[in-house]
Amino acid sequence: MTNVTPTPFMAPAQLLGSMWSALPSWMPIPGLGMLANNAFVHAGREPMLVDTGAGLFGDAFIQTLGSVVDPADLRWIWLSHADPDHTGNLARILELAPQARVLVGLLGQAKLQLSGMDVSRCQVLMPGDEIIIGGRRLRAVRPPCYDAPETLGFHDETGVLYAVDTFGAVLPEAAASLEDIDESTLRDGLVTWGAIDAPWQADLEPTLRARRFGAVERLAPERVLTAHLPLGLRSGRRLAQAAMAASQRLPGDMVALEAAVAAHAAQSLAETEVA
Ligand SMILES: [Fe+2]
Ligand SMILES: [Fe+2]
Repeated sequence: MTNVTPTPFMAPAQLLGSMWSALPSWMPIPGLGMLANNAFVHAGREPMLVDTGAGLFGDAFIQTLGSVVDPADLRWIWLSHADPDHTGNLARILELAPQARVLVGLLGQAKLQLSGMDVSRCQVLMPGDEIIIGGRRLRAVRPPCYDAPETLGFHDETGVLYAVDTFGAVLPEAAASLEDIDESTLRDGLVTWGAIDAPWQADLEPTLRARRFGAVERLAPERVLTAHLPLGLRSGRRLAQAAMAASQRLPGDMVALEAAVAAHAAQSLAETEVA
């Protein structure tokens, strides 16, 4: 899959094994490339939507969601954090899913309330809390990297880890599968996304950075769901190793990234002035 014109688009839903589906979309990062933006659905006795996509996709997101589950059947919405690429369609989905409860961190709930959302169907979780959904135990976890302190991923007893914004990568173009991305392109993309989304990583001692990603390696999840990477089967261990290598490059590459963004901004300004 390629996207010649860098415009945002919603891709068709993709099955991930028998229980999970992804609702993938792509967004351009001006001057740098394309970023995946995935939500997920777990089927089963108590269907769960994991994040609600970006509001700019509106009808397309609702339609793609409807291709894998009747929104009226949703029982749970896992809201990882209150960023607009994860909460964009929440209000519409709550209307379409009257039975659904929203699982969210404490600060996430406060942010929803501050933005005028109805939080009466929210249930607050903290890192380490466990919840049984459709007979399956999930533990709320704080992923190694995040851009909002309320961020909650999960690790479930089938070995699935939702890593939220961790392991995101800005790529030269959209890709249907992570297997289409070679290792060096992935690492470059991880560095770029890390510098944009969690620049604080650059200030961590290398041992602390290694410890954060090492925790995922030790957990050795069977499958990693991540909001900002093409879908694929790369194991948690391999992803953690790639992210750790990318993270070690971060302090130096921050300078290069800032120069690239500044060059793009200057070029855009020059084009605007000519027009
Ligand atoms: Fe985020
Ligand atoms: Fe995000």
